[in-house]
Amino acid sequence: MTLKNKKILLIIGGGISAYKSLDLIRLLKKNEINIKTIITKSGREFVTPLSVTTLTKGRTYEDIFDTKTEAEIDHISLSRWADLIVVLPATANFMTKLSIGKAEDLATTVLLASNKDIALVPAMNVRMWLHKATQKNFKILQDYGYDFIGPEKGEMACGEYGEGKMSSPRQIYSYIKNYFDKKNLMKNKNFKALVTAGPTREYLDPIRYISNESSGKQGYEIAKALDKLGIKTKLISGPSNNVANKNIKVKSVISAKDMMDEVKKSLPVDIAVCTAAVADYRPLIKSKNKLKKSSSNIINLKLEKNSDILEFLSKNNKFRPKIVVGFAAETENIIHNSKIKIKEKYCDLIIANDVSKKNRGFNSDYNKVSIIDKNGKIHSIPKNKKSFIANTIAKKILDKLLVDDKNIN
Ligand code: CTP
Repeated sequence: MTLKNKKILLIIGGGISAYKSLDLIRLLKKNEINIKTIITKSGREFVTPLSVTTLTKGRTYEDIFDTKTEAEIDHISLSRWADLIVVLPATANFMTKLSIGKAEDLATTVLLASNKDIALVPAMNVRMWLHKATQKNFKILQDYGYDFIGPEKGEMACGEYGEGKMSSPRQIYSYIKNYFDKKNLMKNKNFKALVTAGPTREYLDPIRYISNESSGKQGYEIAKALDKLGIKTKLISGPSNNVANKNIKVKSVISAKDMMDEVKKSLPVDIAVCTAAVADYRPLIKSKNKLKKSSSNIINLKLEKNSDILEFLSKNNKFRPKIVVGFAAETENIIHNSKIKIKEKYCDLIIANDVSKKNRGFNSDYNKVSIIDKNGKIHSIPKNKKSFIANTIAKKILDKLLVDDKNIN
C-alpha cells in the first residue's frame, strides 16, 4: 500500500540521535508523506530548525508562543491534523515528562492533548535505559497506550555497548509502513470478536451459589483492547463490577449455561477470547426454596459437569472463529499444564495465567502471563497492569489474524 498523502507529525527531541531525524524526513518525503515538525528547545541544540524546514519545505514549530506572530500555536490542531505522531529521539527526560503528564512546551502539550496514535523512539545510554526509573516510565507509557520503536542493541555515541540505541530511519520507516498497512487492512475487514469474562455462579438454591474469585478485570481489558484496535467486540460477562466502553456490547449472564447460550447466539465471529473462569460443575439439583440445615454433620452435594465453552468454540465445525484464545488458570506447573490445555481444547493461543499469588491474577489490577501458541512458542509478559497485558494480547491476536488472513487469500 502506498503511503502517499499520509500525515505524520514528527517531534524532534534533544539527543545526539536527533540528526537521524533528517534522514527520516528525506525517506518520508521520498514516499510522498506529508510531514509537520515540532522541535524542542534541547532538540535545537542538535539540529537547526532551518535544516528541518529545508527538508520538509514547511514550517518547523518551535514554541508554544510564537514571538513572530505573537500568537499561540494551536497545539490541538497540530495533533488533530496528524494520522500518526512519532517522537525521536525520546530521551529519558522526555519519557519522564510524558509519564507524569507534564505539558511544559509545545511538544509535551501536543502529546498530552493528542487523540492520535503516538510512537516513541527512545535513544539513550544503556545504563539510563536500564535504570529502574526509566523502565518504570516505559511501563507507564505503554500502559497509557504509547507505542515504542526500539530501542536497539548496539554501540552508542558515548562508546558504550548495549540496549538504548535509537532505531535507524529505515526501521522507523518500516514501523510506519506496517502501521498504515495494518490500518488499511482493518478498514476493509470488519472483524468481530467475542470475549467471555468474569466468574459464573451456579446456584444451589435461591440465595446460595458456587463461584470463584475471578473479578472479570482481565476480560474487560481484553474487550477494551480489541475495541481500540477497531474490532467490533461483544463481551459476555458473569457477575462483575467492571464497566466496559460504550462501543462494546455487554451481555450479562449468571451461570455457565447462560454464558454458553449467549456464546451460541453470538456466532459467527472472527475472534473468540475465553477469559471467563467458568465453573466446571453445577449442582445437580437447584432447590426452589432455601435449603434447610440438616441434622447430619456431613452432607453430600451432587454436581454435574458444565459444558466447556472454549472447547465448544474451537471444535465448532460450522462456526469456528478464525482465532480461538483460551486462558489457563493454574497454580502449579503453569507452562506445562497450559501446554496440555492448548492441545486438549484445540485453541490457537493459550494465555498461561499464574493465579497462585495474591497480588496478581484473580481479583487484582496486575497480572503476569505467558502467551503460548500451538507450536509451543512462548512469549512471556512480566508482571504488569492488566490493561497493558490486554493490549499485548490483542495486538498478538490481530497480527496472527492478519497473517492467517493473508495466507488464505
Ligand atoms: N472454560 C470454558 N468453559 C468451561 C471451563 C473452562 O470456556 N466450562 C475455558 C476458560 O474460559 C479458559 C479455559 O477454558 O479459557 C481454561 O479454563 P481453566 O479453568 O483454566 O481450566 P479447566 O478447563 O476448567 O480445567 P482445570 O480446572 O482442570 O484446570
